[in-house]
Amino acid sequence: MTELVDVCPISELPPGQVRLVEHAGLEIGVFNCDGTLYAIEDRCSHDDGPLAEGLLDVEECTVECPRHGAIFDLRTGRPRTLPAYEPVDTFPVIIDENMIKLEVI
Ligand code: FES
Repeated sequence: MTELVDVCPISELPPGQVRLVEHAGLEIGVFNCDGTLYAIEDRCSHDDGPLAEGLLDVEECTVECPRHGAIFDLRTGRPRTLPAYEPVDTFPVIIDENMIKLEVI
């Protein structure tokens, strides 16, 4: 069953910023990429690097893992560069009355 998880008001996550959310043992990074919001698992598929602490590229809509430098596409969760080769989970983001929420199964 899908569950909605509150992230924060839209005003608290401006473009270029990241917010980390914890829910039921999951850590999820929510990224504002030039006005569009994306959410991915905060655990690099290579060696568990904390992706929400990585370098966000708002033009490419990617984040670089701070541990070994794999670059992930925030839209799909797929890595664009090695050493990661498996995707990370992505989560739908919705806006409900100015509150950012995640759909989590
Ligand atoms: S842990 Fe992310 S690239 Fe190694």
